[in-house]
Amino acid sequence: MATEKSSSPPIDHRRKILITGAGGLLGRHATRWFAERYDVIAAHREDMDLTDALTVRRWIAEHRPDVIINCAALSNVDMCEREPARAFAVNAEGAYHLALAANEVGAELVHLSTDYVFDGKKRTPYTIDDEPRPINVYGRSKLEGEKLVRQALPRHYIVRIARLFGRGGRNFASALLDLARREGRLLAIVDEIGSPTYVMDLIERLDEIIRCGRYGTYHVTNEGACSWYEFALTALQLAGLRGVVIEKVNSADLDRPARRPPYTVLRCLLSERLGWTPLRPWPQAYAAFISEG
Ligand SMILES: NC(=O)c1ccc[n+]([C@@H]2O[C@H](COP(=O)([O-])OP(=O)(O)OC[C@H]3O[C@@H](n4cnc5c(N)ncnc54)[C@H](OP(=O)(O)O)[C@@H]3O)[C@@H](O)[C@H]2O)c1
Repeated sequence: MATEKSSSPPIDHRRKILITGAGGLLGRHATRWFAERYDVIAAHREDMDLTDALTVRRWIAEHRPDVIINCAALSNVDMCEREPARAFAVNAEGAYHLALAANEVGAELVHLSTDYVFDGKKRTPYTIDDEPRPINVYGRSKLEGEKLVRQALPRHYIVRIARLFGRGGRNFASALLDLARREGRLLAIVDEIGSPTYVMDLIERLDEIIRCGRYGTYHVTNEGACSWYEFALTALQLAGLRGVVIEKVNSADLDRPARRPPYTVLRCLLSERLGWTPLRPWPQAYAAFISEG
């Protein structure tokens, strides 16, 4: 059981939350944050490999969570392109195993998905009414995961996010600062536009989503959009790193296995209908990331 902090509200024991992918960027922060508020079980790949249907079923039946937050995924876009069978096994079939097991014990499932389900041809923000048309294996495997979750479990929240950043692990925001400090030089893409998402802001919204009980598909990112180049400029400025050379490149200049959609800004119709305040603009969130570090 999670320990209670004197400054935190009391733990809500009415809800048991199971977090998969607990060692990943989102999973790690979510486990810590939710464990200060709810009864939390953290599942790492060694505990419950999502590709193993029997283990998933046994684990969920044994722990009987009220809510499962699925942070487990094969999230490396180029690795997915090189290993499509593995991508589909984790991102699609793994999600399906979890949804089936959740259904058996009456649990709700929060399933994380991605802006890369869209092809990026639009020039206005994508809503949940827009038809997904992924252009790479990662996007296709995640879209298949969404479909299988919807099919297996009515009590689902599918949450599409984008460009996740936070402390620790493999993520672009930390990598950018490390590289800038080490090399004094960066390559930054000018023609891929999206909305960064600060992991701590996302987690608070996930809590709101679970508490509101409105099933469906959500888009959650910080407000505003930028290219990777614009992100790098702002990030270096906020981090106080001067004199770093940022070289502009186009997506096509880079030799990467997976194509990326050029524009994937997301708009969340559902949270607008629910009257929720949008997440703060990404530069503010990035400033918080720097100062909280
Ligand atoms: N990061 C982004 O920019 C981004 C953008 C859009 C959407 N998303 C989505 O957001 C979610 C969280 O992403 P993240 O960045 O936190 O991912 P992450 O850091 O790559 O973490 C993924 C976690 O899943 C685990 N995992 C992989 N295969 C598994 C399996 N077969 N069974 C159980 N666990 C397995 C990994 O464990 P091991 O390390 O042991 O393999 C890792 O702990 C994912 O659904 C991702 O698709 C992320």
